[in-house]
Amino acid sequence: MRVLVTGGSGQLAHAVRLAWAGHDLILPEEAILDLSRQEAIRSVVTEVRPDVVVNCGAFTQVDRCESEAELALLINGTAVGWLAEACEDLGAMLIQVSTDYVFDGAGMTPYREEDPTSPVSVYGHTKLEGERQAARCSRHLIARTSWLYDAWGKNFLNTMLNAAAHGRSLRVVDDQRGAPTTCRALARQLKAAAEEQWHGLVHATCQGETSWHGFAKAIFEAKELAVDLSPCNTEDYPTPARRPAYSVLDGARRRSLGSDLMPPWQEALAEVIDHPEFSKEA
Ligand SMILES: NC(=O)c1ccc[n+]([C@@H]2O[C@H](COP(=O)([O-])OP(=O)(O)OC[C@H]3O[C@@H](n4cnc5c(N)ncnc54)[C@H](OP(=O)(O)O)[C@@H]3O)[C@@H](O)[C@H]2O)c1
Repeated sequence: MRVLVTGGSGQLAHAVRLAWAGHDLILPEEAILDLSRQEAIRSVVTEVRPDVVVNCGAFTQVDRCESEAELALLINGTAVGWLAEACEDLGAMLIQVSTDYVFDGAGMTPYREEDPTSPVSVYGHTKLEGERQAARCSRHLIARTSWLYDAWGKNFLNTMLNAAAHGRSLRVVDDQRGAPTTCRALARQLKAAAEEQWHGLVHATCQGETSWHGFAKAIFEAKELAVDLSPCNTEDYPTPARRPAYSVLDGARRRSLGSDLMPPWQEALAEVIDHPEFSKEA
């Protein structure tokens, strides 16, 4: 398959580059495929003529989205509509990556795809708009994921390891629960989903759940680092954007669609620690 990947400098795009080897991959730089410009999207898609577009590009800085709502809507919402139109014209498949932040987090059991959405942040609202826009393409797959990280990129794992390397004491929130998910696991899952022609809305996170504090503790145990780590509450660290307190996503639909490649989160973390550089064979 000929595959066009947006947001080529991001952490998920890097994993797609590695996990989708064997397909004909095109990852243009942001200066060329700038999602804020409809003309750029149209001309790149027309030139590349992909079978599949994987939209890894997004305005992902959740707190900044609160003060830059217009730009967030443009990148996370409107641009997805432009991609959907361009894919529709070609008959291409559009894979849109979405988020657990479309839910308000008041639930206490894993959210299913059909559960009502109610974002509590600008980021969540704009990503939900992106879902609506993606659905305008007949061949669309919207994959909601959560708490993405890997050995590369700006993410919670690297923030924790960096803090530990500086010998800092750490207080980490223990009252937000979700599923840490590795970019490589999601990239493999999306590849299988494209090959198997999945359609519609699906939840794609690693299995199980923990808190940010639980995730930090598991990271330090896996790395055998002695860190002064203690739990705290969300209210101890106010941020511009609200986050859902509970955002675990139910994976039953994914398991019913075909190859389920999402491992338990602890297994996925062990893979990243043991094999920071992964290749398609890993
Ligand atoms: N990270 C998470 O925890 C998480 C959780 C759930 C869902 N997701 C979703 O997963 C997807 C991948 O996220 P990620 O973690 O890989 O994020 P990331 O590392 O921040 O990657 C996003 C990429 O999009 C690029 N981008 C921003 N504006 C752009 C524009 N106008 N044109 C082209 N590219 C642009 C960014 O470039 P710059 O860095 O230069 O801005 C960045 O390289 C996103 O859809 C995100 O919403 C992420």
